[in-house]
Amino acid sequence: MSHAQPVTAPEYNMGVVRQFAIMTVVWGIVGMATGVFIAAQLAWPALNFDIPWLSFGRLRPLHTNLVIFAFGGSALMATSLYVVQRTCLTPLFMPRLAGFTFWGWQLVIVLALITLPLGLTSTKEYAELEWPIDILIAIVWIAYAAVFFGTIVQRRTSHIYVANWFYGAFIITIAVLHIVNSAAVPLSLTKSYSVYGGAMDAMIQWWYGHNAVGFLLTAGFLGMMYYFVPIQAGRPVYSYRLSIVHFWALISVYMWAGAHHLHYSALPDWTQSLGMAFSLILIAPSWGGMLNGVLTLSGAWDKLRSDPIIRFLIVALSFYAMATFEGPMMSIKTVNALSHNTDWTIGHVHSGALGWVAMISIGSLYVLIPRVFDRQAMYSTQLINVHFWLATIGTVFYIVSMWISGITQGLMWRAINADGTLTYSFIESVVASHPMYVGRLIGGGMFLAGMLVMAWNVYRTVRGAQPKDLPAA
Ligand code: HEM
Ligand code: HEM
Repeated sequence: MSHAQPVTAPEYNMGVVRQFAIMTVVWGIVGMATGVFIAAQLAWPALNFDIPWLSFGRLRPLHTNLVIFAFGGSALMATSLYVVQRTCLTPLFMPRLAGFTFWGWQLVIVLALITLPLGLTSTKEYAELEWPIDILIAIVWIAYAAVFFGTIVQRRTSHIYVANWFYGAFIITIAVLHIVNSAAVPLSLTKSYSVYGGAMDAMIQWWYGHNAVGFLLTAGFLGMMYYFVPIQAGRPVYSYRLSIVHFWALISVYMWAGAHHLHYSALPDWTQSLGMAFSLILIAPSWGGMLNGVLTLSGAWDKLRSDPIIRFLIVALSFYAMATFEGPMMSIKTVNALSHNTDWTIGHVHSGALGWVAMISIGSLYVLIPRVFDRQAMYSTQLINVHFWLATIGTVFYIVSMWISGITQGLMWRAINADGTLTYSFIESVVASHPMYVGRLIGGGMFLAGMLVMAWNVYRTVRGAQPKDLPAA
């Protein structure tokens, strides 16, 4: 990451980065607390208190919207708007538009917080918000894109650092996915119907859904990896050449894999097989990129012992490796026949969501926050360490519980007696899953507790408290 030095040091716009960074922590806590609450409801359904807006069906999409778009989205906006300035040696293009992006995005989240518990939904997974909010999202996203790409155009460096390629692909792709998938005919201010129907609607929905995973939950966070792992490790990325191959391979393969969400459905069989084949190919770019991140630490492995921030970043990459091995396996039709609709999928989702997305964001924020608030370091390295263990053990508890429960469900649902009748009733599989739901709740609770520790540490850092225990150099 060497750049030609500018004649004068640029005046970076860090205000919007600070705002997004703080809101990442806030929305992380709100979104995960909702996750913990719905996890408790699955263990003890009476916790919906017979109040419609507290029911699982309404709070589940609220959880996914909060963690993906409010927490993940804010983390991506904070880091991308930081990284693009630092690597282009240029302040943000149109800083007022950047301010609009921040407030517009917060408004979208507040509208989600109001409308989803009220039961207002388009029913499309991860795209539940109704059409007026969809239009607002599109406007805010275009403003975000203008700020990001405008800064790249005005850069004072000759080349565009690879992290920006990943962020850029994420920004463009999410705009296209959102606008195409949300196309709808409004019936009233709060109700619309998709312009697509039947199997076509399903295919467009999962082209969107899978690429939201591929570009929001993956490519954007890989942008984070390519900046924050080298910065924290204090060494250049392992192979710049590999990062370019990684980029083109990942973005060209992801687009074709969405049909693995629709195995054994009304979708033409060849489309399902195509989705499966591309999912298997996806292992290669996923693991190539992951290794590029991990090997950046070559020659400095001792930092894993002394620096809990590096541990967050590297363990995140390990969970990424796990999720991107598991995903292709689950896309094999015969494996999917067992895993589909079971808790195995939920375990896979959270090894990606908690292990990868949340942990890489948390690690990156611990690097970013002292820098954008002009502090020497985070207030307490020991508390980062506590957070690391709560997050890691919490994630393991979550996903192991879901593996056990998911495979149990899959096997019980397919068990057949000699006379062809089902061996188990559905409720028997629910009873068998119950202990694992309590296990997941404990894991989720630990992860949330870690976020509260982080909030305290961030609060003390921002308020200017003297760092207590600086890490070994
Ligand atoms: C404290 C942490 C968390 C807890 C306790 C939690 C809990 C839950 C629960 C109980 C469900 C519903 C499962 C079901 O329907 O059977 C769920 C779904 C989901 N969560 Fe979380 N979650 C947490 C964090 C996260 C994070 C950080 C993300 C994303 C970055 C995330 C993304 C999702 C997604 C995408 C789904 C839907 C999965 C699917 O439809 O297959 N969660 N979560
Ligand atoms: C090579 C990479 C990956 C492949 C091929 C893959 C494949 C799959 C497959 C086959 C399913 C199950 C579909 C079903 O039976 O309904 C699935 C579900 C899911 N995966 Fe992955 N996965 C990958 C990586 C990831 C990562 C890194 C994340 C998260 C950060 C993630 C998030 C999800 C989500 C949210 C779902 C649930 C979708 C839903 O039904 O609501 N995946 N994935």
